[in-house]
Amino acid sequence: MRHDFEHEGRQISYLDVHPSAPRPASLVLFLHAFPLAAEMWEPQLAAVPAGWRFVAPDLRGFGHSSPDGDAGSADPAARNGLSIDDYARDALALLDHLGARSAVVCGLSMGGYAAFALVRLARERVRGLVLADTRPDPDSPASRAGREQMLQTLQREGAGAVAEAMVPRLLGRTSAASRGTLVERVRRLAGEQSPAAVAAAIVRLMTRPDSLPLLSTFDRPLLVVAGDEDEIAGPDIARQMHGQVDGAELAVLGSAGHLSNMEQPAAFNAALDRFLATRFIQP
Ligand code: MLT
Repeated sequence: MRHDFEHEGRQISYLDVHPSAPRPASLVLFLHAFPLAAEMWEPQLAAVPAGWRFVAPDLRGFGHSSPDGDAGSADPAARNGLSIDDYARDALALLDHLGARSAVVCGLSMGGYAAFALVRLARERVRGLVLADTRPDPDSPASRAGREQMLQTLQREGAGAVAEAMVPRLLGRTSAASRGTLVERVRRLAGEQSPAAVAAAIVRLMTRPDSLPLLSTFDRPLLVVAGDEDEIAGPDIARQMHGQVDGAELAVLGSAGHLSNMEQPAAFNAALDRFLATRFIQP
């Protein structure tokens, strides 16, 4: 189920679940949140509907994929050239590697920013979008200042400190109070990511462009999902994105925070399955 390939001298690692089917399966490409890895999609990879193939890459430097850059260094020049588009380019390389012309792209939070970048770079390869717990606007000056602080914390105290700061924001109050195993799992996954990947991602997050104008021109199937306890990209932002695209669907999941796919996997999968079954004609 885990595979990798070389692209531009780097290894790109991905999880691939492809239940044996008598005919070619359609692809869903899952793009993960910050500071996590493809493993966060396990609840979805464990329940692939018939006729579909679910593929989840570790974005550059996360999980088992090779890192790049050194954005955490004191040298501001090391940040030059880092862009959220890098993740989208790697995702396109993965589609090429799989021989897939296009895919339904499902991005959660940072994965959603990468999904916007994919639409910007190669709209024709995006059959449809699932935007979960994400937002189209760029960082505000206050958010950028927070990211600079996070870079300093990372340099001073390492990725574990960033994980400690992020985990309470990633999970909703219901999960924090009653889903101890999930809290530990997210803490472990965030804490084991490489500092270089986390630093480069922080720079990519804080320099991402405004994707609202792009979203308003998107004319393919769109499902927007948000946890009702998400304090980073909650229901109000989901409703704003939903209002941009004719025929878009919206699912607000109860008792879920920012990682709605992990916190309410059954409800998330039900919304995803319904979207895939009703909006796409299988080959
Ligand atoms: C994420 O979950 O990917 C991050 O919260 C995104 C962000 O901080 O903007």
